[in-house]
Amino acid sequence: MEIKNICVIGAGIMGHGIAQLAATHGYEVNLVDVNEDILKKAKNAIEKNLDRFFVVKNKITAEEASDILNRIKLNPDRDSAVKGVQMVIEAVFEDMNLKQKLFSELDSICDKSVILASNTSSLSITEIASKSNNQERIVGIHFFNPAPVMKLIELIKGKNTSEEVFATSKQFSESLNKTVVTVKDAPGFVTTRLIYVLCNEAVKLKMEGIASTEDIDVACKLAFNFPMGPLELSDLVGNDIYFHIGEYLGEALGEKYKPSPLLKEMVEDNLLGRKSKKGFYNY
Ligand SMILES: NC(=O)c1ccc[n+]([C@@H]2O[C@H](COP(=O)([O-])OP(=O)(O)OC[C@H]3O[C@@H](n4cnc5c(N)ncnc54)[C@H](O)[C@@H]3O)[C@@H](O)[C@H]2O)c1
Repeated sequence: MEIKNICVIGAGIMGHGIAQLAATHGYEVNLVDVNEDILKKAKNAIEKNLDRFFVVKNKITAEEASDILNRIKLNPDRDSAVKGVQMVIEAVFEDMNLKQKLFSELDSICDKSVILASNTSSLSITEIASKSNNQERIVGIHFFNPAPVMKLIELIKGKNTSEEVFATSKQFSESLNKTVVTVKDAPGFVTTRLIYVLCNEAVKLKMEGIASTEDIDVACKLAFNFPMGPLELSDLVGNDIYFHIGEYLGEALGEKYKPSPLLKEMVEDNLLGRKSKKGFYNY
């Protein structure tokens, strides 16, 4: 099956990046969000990003940027936005019940040939698909932030994902000029499990007083050539996000994955990182 038209559901950080990326590679994109204000902000952000990171750097012309933008149609009405597309990619909040409900609704309104993909960063694809009748068409396509720039896609095969859907999803991902790694459906997959463990361990080092915030970050940057230290990264991603991932991984994989008590305390005190202007650092 050839994919030409896609629908992206959720126009937040990831959704608008995925829409920009797909439109840049020639796909027609319907971008959906429950919040119309977020939809408008998404298109403005895409316009600015195209200009700042691509036109100004002479990677594309102003005319190409305008064509990309024209390929993205905003639509607050999900059911009409999925009409005529060959693939739907969801990027709504990381919440199992929300995703299960969304996929079972999509499964009942989309033509049987339509691929339904989740951009979840940690939740089981098999479990997300479990409330749907046609589970063979549900797959995980995990993009990274910012989606137009990051080189990797982690492709996740649920227990019931068909070979054909997986192969088409791989072709689609490669058409976006990404390197694809294929991963079995397991909590946190490869990337989220590894980065969470590193960040949570760094929080434990801080809690145990082994080193200061700055020294933990500098140690990782210089010892491992990381572009960013784990505590800086936790602030950037959101300490609440890592906390929820930790709760999910702890439940699924065992006690040692549980979030450290300091991470929990910081979330309770609204020390979420950049988004609340305070975390391991002040912003
Ligand atoms: N932020 C990251 O770095 C990152 C990286 C990879 C994957 N992810 C995953 O991508 C997904 C989205 O994350 P995000 O950071 O973009 O979140 P976000 O909060 O920025 O955006 C989520 C958007 O979904 C919308 N939404 C919620 N319910 C909806 C519904 N039923 N229908 C339509 N829109 C709905 C919200 O209004 C919001 O705009 C999550 O599953 C997350 O785990 C995030």
